[in-house]
Amino acid sequence: MERTFLMLKPDAVQRGLVGAVISRLEAKGFKLAGMKLMKVDRALAEQHYAEHKGKSFFEPTVNYIMSSPVVAMVWEGKNVVALAREMMGATNPANANPGSIRGSYGMDISRNIIHGSDSVASAEREIGIYFKPEEILEYKKAGEEWLSE
Ligand code: GTP
Ligand code: MG
Repeated sequence: MERTFLMLKPDAVQRGLVGAVISRLEAKGFKLAGMKLMKVDRALAEQHYAEHKGKSFFEPTVNYIMSSPVVAMVWEGKNVVALAREMMGATNPANANPGSIRGSYGMDISRNIIHGSDSVASAEREIGIYFKPEEILEYKKAGEEWLSE
């Protein structure tokens, strides 16, 4: 089954939105495979946002995800990478569909609630930098037969 890496950014934790966002992902039918509350250090933050090195928003974005604890998560499901991105909405919450996570809870690009891998290859890379293999759990979840054929 496909996996993605999702992270509740410091603003989500500070604003008490952890439960609300996780509820949406659970209700969609995705399966939680790994989760930890953690503080991101500079080395990890720079590795995470390596593709943006040199851009104007690189430093502020690295500082933002280091500023307070985040919730790092691995979620599984059919087409979960693309579907989670749809649920997140546009990068800038000001332009995000109001039904999306960023559209529901945010108003500015510098505080956009959640990170999600943008491809299956990114998901593999990001899961690898945040999780040890033994921190990702395989288990049977009740009701899987009611989610797809
Ligand atoms: P992530 O899921 O967090 O990777 O967001 P994304 O894939 O929708 O956007 P992208 O990878 O292009 O940018 C990574 C992050 O950098 C964004 O989520 C924002 O937090 C931040 N960012 C991107 N563009 C800007 C910008 O123009 N200004 C500011 N302040 N931050 C930005
Ligand atoms: Mg991105």
